[in-house]
Amino acid sequence: MITYAVLANPGHNRVYFEASKKLSLAELEIACRRFSVECRDFALAEIEGILYLTFNAEEPLSNDDLAWLSRLSFTYAIFELRKKESEVALIPIRKISSYYFNDDLNTILKYTGKTNELFTRLMINVALLSSDFYNTKDINLLDPVAGKGTTLFESLIAGYNSYGIEINPNVVHEAAVFFKKYLENEKYKHSLKKERMRGEAKSFTANFYRFEFAKSKEDFKAGKTLQLCMVAGDSRYSNRFFKKKMFHIIVGDLPYGVQHRNVSNQNQSSITRSPKELLNYCLPSWIESLKSGGVIVLAWNKFVLSREQMIEIFSRHNLKVLNDSPYTDFEHRVDQAINRDIIVAKK
Ligand SMILES: C[S@@+](CC[C@H](N)C(=O)[O-])C[C@H]1O[C@@H](n2cnc3c(N)ncnc32)[C@H](O)[C@@H]1O
Repeated sequence: MITYAVLANPGHNRVYFEASKKLSLAELEIACRRFSVECRDFALAEIEGILYLTFNAEEPLSNDDLAWLSRLSFTYAIFELRKKESEVALIPIRKISSYYFNDDLNTILKYTGKTNELFTRLMINVALLSSDFYNTKDINLLDPVAGKGTTLFESLIAGYNSYGIEINPNVVHEAAVFFKKYLENEKYKHSLKKERMRGEAKSFTANFYRFEFAKSKEDFKAGKTLQLCMVAGDSRYSNRFFKKKMFHIIVGDLPYGVQHRNVSNQNQSSITRSPKELLNYCLPSWIESLKSGGVIVLAWNKFVLSREQMIEIFSRHNLKVLNDSPYTDFEHRVDQAINRDIIVAKK
């Protein structure tokens, strides 16, 4: 039996750090279900006044297990914990990091309404670990309510192809300008194609920003590239924007009915305070774009829609909602107006 202790990343946001302790344990438990050795006794432990997440493993973790443990949203440093009588020793274990971009891709941009980056990383991990694709190499992620791209950038850091839809064209334009500058500054070989799509009888228009990039000219030439595609358009047409069964995971942070309002059609005539209407309009189309065995993870504000209502909507669309512990342990307070939770549903 080996005891591991993980030092939690304090991040940039103290309020989220406090809230995230419980969430981190849930993320850890979901990850450990995929590990090659049996793990148990997940706990928060204070050692000399510093907080760690600890767990016991039957045998040493494999390299694949350590790679997953290294990329969990809270993992700052990993130790083996040894106890001898009253003495405690922490033996450092090297993290196995395989990030495609540095974290700064997601920390440079700051704006009102931005979803916390570490929380976003948690949602992506939970989605992939709960899907049939947790050890698949080429992952396609869709954020159907992408805002200025926190999920997309977090997904790119992890090395996944990333696709987003956002109804506000100015927001998409700003995200594209930022990303182009980032690629130029960091000297990634890249291309950007802009395209416009029109629905029949002017039902919709959408603007596409398609980035393809690689770390070097050689990789770019050899086709070893990653994709970022951002669509300025209405998410209910996602099945028109993207191929059927294209995505392994769908991850997003629904409008809260607070700073952001739901816009369920493009002329903005139908603005509601609840994500319910948005989901009813969009879910059929999102599900069409999701592979079987794929998972949707969405964050929402429980002050505007209960968990039971959320489960009812997803079940009605024939998705299997994962609703046992630790999937029920993600609720946390963001501020006075937002009590956030996530729903995890599998196709
Ligand atoms: C909570 S925000 C997402 C923030 C994002 N995660 C970020 O950090 O930038 C929700 C986004 O959904 C967008 N939205 C609302 N209705 C939409 C629709 N029908 N199609 C596409 N996007 C929509 C809103 O404009 C808003 O930017």
